[in-house]
Amino acid sequence: MSGLIPQRFIEDLLDRTDLGELIGSRIALKRSGASLTARCPFHDEKTPSFNVRPDKGFYHCFGCGAHGDAISFVREFEGLEFTAAVEELARRAGLEVPYDKAVSQQIRQNKTLTDALGFATEFFRQRLAGPEGELARNYLKARGLSQDIIDLYQLGFAPGTGNALLQAADDDLRKTLIETGTIGNRDGRQWDFFRNRVMFPIRNSRGRTVAFGGRTLGDDKAKYINSPESDAFHKSREIYGLFEARQALKQIDKLLVVEGYMDVIALAQAGIHYAVAAMGTATNQESLTTLLKQSRHLVFCFDGDTAGYRAADRAMENALELLQDGIHLQFLMLPEGEDPDSLVRQEGGKAFEERIQGARPFSRYLFDRMQEGLDLSLPENQGELRARVEPLLAKMPKGGLRDAMWHEMLRLCRPPRQWSGNNRRGKNWNPAGAPTTPPERIPVRLSNNHMLCLAMLEAPEMAAELREVCRQDRQLDMAARFAEWLQQHDLRTRTQVYQALARSPADQARFFGMFDGIEHMPTRQDALRSAQALLAPNHEERQKQRLRALAEKARTLKFSDLSEEERQQLKASLSSYQEKHGQAN
Ligand code: UTP
Ligand code: MN
Repeated sequence: MSGLIPQRFIEDLLDRTDLGELIGSRIALKRSGASLTARCPFHDEKTPSFNVRPDKGFYHCFGCGAHGDAISFVREFEGLEFTAAVEELARRAGLEVPYDKAVSQQIRQNKTLTDALGFATEFFRQRLAGPEGELARNYLKARGLSQDIIDLYQLGFAPGTGNALLQAADDDLRKTLIETGTIGNRDGRQWDFFRNRVMFPIRNSRGRTVAFGGRTLGDDKAKYINSPESDAFHKSREIYGLFEARQALKQIDKLLVVEGYMDVIALAQAGIHYAVAAMGTATNQESLTTLLKQSRHLVFCFDGDTAGYRAADRAMENALELLQDGIHLQFLMLPEGEDPDSLVRQEGGKAFEERIQGARPFSRYLFDRMQEGLDLSLPENQGELRARVEPLLAKMPKGGLRDAMWHEMLRLCRPPRQWSGNNRRGKNWNPAGAPTTPPERIPVRLSNNHMLCLAMLEAPEMAAELREVCRQDRQLDMAARFAEWLQQHDLRTRTQVYQALARSPADQARFFGMFDGIEHMPTRQDALRSAQALLAPNHEERQKQRLRALAEKARTLKFSDLSEEERQQLKASLSSYQEKHGQAN
């Protein structure tokens, strides 16, 4: 559809839109230099990481990564389609969107989808309250729901006659309800899609109904049926119960992700208002992303049977890539055969809340699952654990959590009695007298650039010498900068280095990348050894560098222009290089 609006118009519209004013009319912004900041409207946070740059026409959230321009802001914030967002911006700017008639008609219709669904919501609510709704009312009462909760979730009843809604709707509404799947339509015949069912309106972030779930009150084969996807309803973008949770709570610290409508509502009835259900599978990445935009702390609730564990495993694997630092996931496995609804009604909200408190953190769940069936006192099984866990950790973004889990994996692979060694405390850890081996050296593969930086951190006095080596190789750029900085500030001990860094945020930023990609620190010994190797006159790397430099010089100069020393160097380098790599080179 967007193709039908000329790109030039869109650009013009973006130019005319003051992003600060647009966003500022919806959330409170604070000025900070060239940008405006706020608590991010797209995820839950306590400190503002949402930045707006009116001068550049974009916004960016350093917390959840949401970013875009005026159009994407209106789309996300108002839940509008592209064209509708352009319409909204054009209206603000006093412009008319230039597109052809067919499209504008479609938009007029789109605007009424949620109106029609709102009409149906009201209709079902009235039926629940009326005489036909008695059975449904009794059913909900038997399931422990109060009138307040029924109203909060706008529950309703779809009569069983098959044409109740159809008859209540006028022609216009009928057409629109067909588009949302609320009314079926085939071969000129029309009928109510939901019959003899308790109705659960699925509401978007602004409280508009976008779809329905319906639970049978009879013995239909399908216990629940849901509206099909439509322009108003995109399964993976909607979260059931979120709007209601926001209504009930001032602030949402975490979300409890459950499976069913009745689970959400029964928990709310028991005073736990932060339960939500993903539409479709909560465990796919799209839904996970939608959930994480709303809260950085999710507790997943699963049945403790095989299927439940399988679902939890899927959630775990799909979450790996999304686990930025600051995101907190937990898994709550319920006793087999129970769901949150049945359990909270048995034991009450307080006991259930305690379960939530005790839910297993993501890392614990992962290690528990991966250790199943393994005896970690066996080296074979230690290897197996590593083979299972390493690929999972490799999917996680770099950060503190991944580092910590990496260490946990290594720790689990080395039960304490193996590395008691000559550690004095260790004596009584080895009562069986098993052969003691020194702690496994963690193999550290770091670039020379990193290794040299770390070596200089350990021994800043090497800076002068290393600076020379580093200058000759562009790949050692950071080490070269670090060496130069150490010299400039005349830093001689590690403490002085840390103090200097602590005093200067600019320098911190400059050398921030120094620790990138380091999953575990090399030992002091390793770092120094690598640095010394690079300094050694016969070090291969260094020789290659010299050779390259000299060859470069030789290409532009004549051999006779080289100093005697340089000539000797080149000859020596060439012959040792050829020895190693064969004459062909
Ligand atoms: P469950 O079968 O666990 O139902 O389905 P429930 O939530 O415990 O329902 P009650 O307690 O019997 O009323 C969990 C969720 O799976 C979807 C629905 O979203 C339901 O809430 N579902 C289930 C369907 O879409 N269709 C079905 O036939 C069954
Ligand atoms: Mn149930």
